[in-house]
Amino acid sequence: MSRHITKLGWLIIITIGVLFLTGMNQFIHSGPKQAANQSERKTNIQPIEQIPSKYPEIPLMLDTKKTDTYHLAIQVPTTKSETINNEVYQWINKQKQDFKKKLKEDTSTDTDLPSLQLTLDEQKVTDNYYTLQFTGEGATEHHISKVFNIDIDNDRFITINDVLNMNDDTLQTIQQKAKEALKREENTSITDEQLVETLTINPEQWNWSIDENGLTLYMDVAGESESNNLEKLNIPLDELYLNLNDKIDTIIDMSKEQKQEMEQAIQEEQERIQQAEKEDQTADDHGKYVALTFDDGPSKEVTPRILDILSQHGAVATFFMLGSQVEYYPDIAKQVADAGHEIGNHTQNHKDLTTLDPDAIHREIIDSGAKIQHATGIRPHLFRPPYGAYDDDTMNDAINNENSLILWSIDSLDWQSRNAARVNREIQSKIRSGAIVLMHDIHPSTADALPELLSTLEEQGYQFVTVSELLELQGENGVGPHYGFVG
Ligand code: NI
Repeated sequence: MSRHITKLGWLIIITIGVLFLTGMNQFIHSGPKQAANQSERKTNIQPIEQIPSKYPEIPLMLDTKKTDTYHLAIQVPTTKSETINNEVYQWINKQKQDFKKKLKEDTSTDTDLPSLQLTLDEQKVTDNYYTLQFTGEGATEHHISKVFNIDIDNDRFITINDVLNMNDDTLQTIQQKAKEALKREENTSITDEQLVETLTINPEQWNWSIDENGLTLYMDVAGESESNNLEKLNIPLDELYLNLNDKIDTIIDMSKEQKQEMEQAIQEEQERIQQAEKEDQTADDHGKYVALTFDDGPSKEVTPRILDILSQHGAVATFFMLGSQVEYYPDIAKQVADAGHEIGNHTQNHKDLTTLDPDAIHREIIDSGAKIQHATGIRPHLFRPPYGAYDDDTMNDAINNENSLILWSIDSLDWQSRNAARVNREIQSKIRSGAIVLMHDIHPSTADALPELLSTLEEQGYQFVTVSELLELQGENGVGPHYGFVG
């Protein structure tokens, strides 16, 4: 037992000695990098050898260790930013842990000494933006790659969101551009576009860098191909102008020409969006329609005036005529039909049909229909009950005689107000595409209201259609009560 303690004692003494020597070594190499070395101790990194660095502002250390079972050789950057150093060292330590874990699991009889080798390639993008690109080999067939984008003056990492307006559109654009970049590559171990898509699906996991030449994506295709190289796909900056963050020129050094090109591209895109919106609006306008209807005519004074105004606007409407009125003015009824308007049946004598028995209802409708057909040559198939009042008997009669029962969605209240301005106001306050508007071609005030009504609706993009056309546009048929669009 005592011999074991002695062994342990020696081990402690040797360990203290090694720690002391390492500390001395750090002291010798420390100089202005005191802060960085403190964080190295915290994260258990012990670089024992300074090696040449591309940039004096980022000194490089080599962390090496050789045992009977493995070999470590890791290039460790030391910036003046402790925040940056800590995160980089944490990542390095994670690689070490993974490597040692894999060693324990590895049961292969490979005679080569397993090694973890991480090589660093630094690139200066601007005065304060650098990329740190680690590549290396871990345990058996374990390929490692990592790119850090660091802003050493501002003590921070540059994220992909600092560089791109990251959203679904941008992601799709990047994936598409990466595939195009793949087509330009001659020597690549990326075998197909699907792999590019798989490797770029999660921006959080991208290894990337950016400069005035474009965005570079580093693809780790180990396991996917024979190559251990980190494949690069470069997307030129001018293909990304619309996806770049507004503040991109604070990160990379864009030329004056590039800034102008980017502004122009953004302006053109805004114009394109405005144009598309305008076209959408036009399409919407094209699809807006309204059915104007006139009841209780034809009348000697008002109906011809209304025909004139409709004709001036090239508008069609639907006239629900009373048989009794058609008897008085068959020529006017004929004029309405000849002008291309639709004619509906409003019964013979304008009685409340819900007060009548089925035979009387039938006669009211049939008599009027016959008068209309006699005067115009057209048998009406639209039917509007007086006062909008109907019951099952009315409905059954409509069904049996193939009449569609048509009500309205907007009452102009022209029968009540007898005032052109109010008629306009009433309709304007309720107008929607697909509306059926109730008016009467027996009140002069309704004819007075019409020029302004038609002009305003035209300006708003409405098309005037007959009730049958409206039903067709709405994909409706049959006889059940039609109210137009009741929003
Ligand atoms: Ni009526």
